[in-house]
Amino acid sequence: MTVKTETLMRTAVVDTLKKESIGKSVKVCGWVRTRRDSKGGFSFIELNDGSTFDSVQVLAENTLPNYESEVLKLSIGSSVEVLGTVVESPGKGQTTEVKAGSLKVLGYADAATYPLQKKGTSFEFLRTIAHLRPRTNTFGAVARVRNEICRSIHNFFQSRGFLYVHAPIITGSDCEGAGQMFRVTTLDLDNLPRTEDGKVDFEQDFFGKSTNLTVSGQLEGEIFATALSNIYTFGPTFRAENSNTSRHLSEFWMIEPEMSFCDLEGNMQCAEDFLKTIFSDVLNNCPRDMAFFNERIDKTVIETLQGIVSSSFERVSYTEAVDILLKSGETFEFPVSWGIDLQSEHERYLTEKKFKKPVIVYDYPKDIKAFYMRLNDDNKTVRAMDVLVPKVGEIIGGSQREERLDVLERRMLDSHLDPAEYWWYLDLRRFGTVPHAGFGLGLERTVQFCTGMGNIRDVIPFPRAPKTAEF
Ligand code: 4AD
Ligand code: MG
Repeated sequence: MTVKTETLMRTAVVDTLKKESIGKSVKVCGWVRTRRDSKGGFSFIELNDGSTFDSVQVLAENTLPNYESEVLKLSIGSSVEVLGTVVESPGKGQTTEVKAGSLKVLGYADAATYPLQKKGTSFEFLRTIAHLRPRTNTFGAVARVRNEICRSIHNFFQSRGFLYVHAPIITGSDCEGAGQMFRVTTLDLDNLPRTEDGKVDFEQDFFGKSTNLTVSGQLEGEIFATALSNIYTFGPTFRAENSNTSRHLSEFWMIEPEMSFCDLEGNMQCAEDFLKTIFSDVLNNCPRDMAFFNERIDKTVIETLQGIVSSSFERVSYTEAVDILLKSGETFEFPVSWGIDLQSEHERYLTEKKFKKPVIVYDYPKDIKAFYMRLNDDNKTVRAMDVLVPKVGEIIGGSQREERLDVLERRMLDSHLDPAEYWWYLDLRRFGTVPHAGFGLGLERTVQFCTGMGNIRDVIPFPRAPKTAEF
């Protein structure tokens, strides 16, 4: 029976690489990675379509009618459609190859001007061509691992009965109370309306009040958790802090579970189970991409993830952590004393040198943490927790929430927040208050940790950072 190959569905490259595909007629499409011509009158074309790390080898013989006129003009970045047969590959390095019955050029990429010519192009340079970097090995692998992490996150919560809640992106409140927010306005910046006392009159703004992009969906998450028990949010968050580091973005994605009838202990357990599930899913479901990261980016990344999945996290109180740092004999750039916010060098000492595994630090001084964290009986510390991992540092921040109305109101006043503006948040304590807890996981720091990529700007498709917002 003759197969009308023109009507074939496209076969993904990942499927043409499987032994079971040998003998099948396929249509494969993709972008040329390399072309090698043989004196014997045929060419090998490495074709990649992003469906997996590897490319498929296409055998194009000079019997193709357009061999001289088109095949021999193909260079890296050109796009083609191949109709052919999957055959066993006699060559080394691959099991199968596609023998082309016909090859159609969809689009040439001029070899003289295509920016992705050279191998080993630096990540800094690739950031300037973010529209083409997904075509490289590294960024394709990052995109697939990032996707796997997202799938794993939804699976983890969905299989445990958590509801996915969408927190708003434009908000009238400041969750972290740090004031590092991007304003949302339609006011004419060249001609701002003023009140009598000279302040900007936000009553004339689009929403009739001052609004910003959210820094966290937590407060809205608490609204749903105190009705539906276990929920999670997963969305973009925005921070206008002027941090030019390899771990900070101005726009990043955060996952925030919130659990009613849960205390700090339950919160820590959930965070640990959650991270282990993500890491083991990445190891199990992205073996090819992970082998690449382990070989080319960070030679310890697989071993580190495997080690974490099969052991338990260390848990130390902030006070114990400070003691450990004071006794470490290390000289830190930022001196350590009880009450300081732990700096990245301190976090790294704890997780990389002292414990050599993830560390959960809990019960931080109240003065360095947000108003909503539950006050301990010592009146000095709150039920906060940060999960620290080697290299990346803080990957999760969370807490048990203050569920006592009077204590929460006092904490708000101490933090110079107006309780009247948070009337709805206080209502959750006024009517049927319950102990509850939650945390936030930074998606990009998770991708960084899983892949070993050094700079957070290389694990998000379109990084936003101070003075950087291409596209
Ligand atoms: O510690 P953070 O600020 O916690 C919150 O926003 C809480 N509302 C979470 C909660 O309890 N529901 O942020 C949580 C995590 C950090 O641990 C870090 O992984 C990530 O978000 N993160 C950032 N990632 C990239 N760039 C930034 N500028 C980040 N700021 C925080
Ligand atoms: Mg934090």
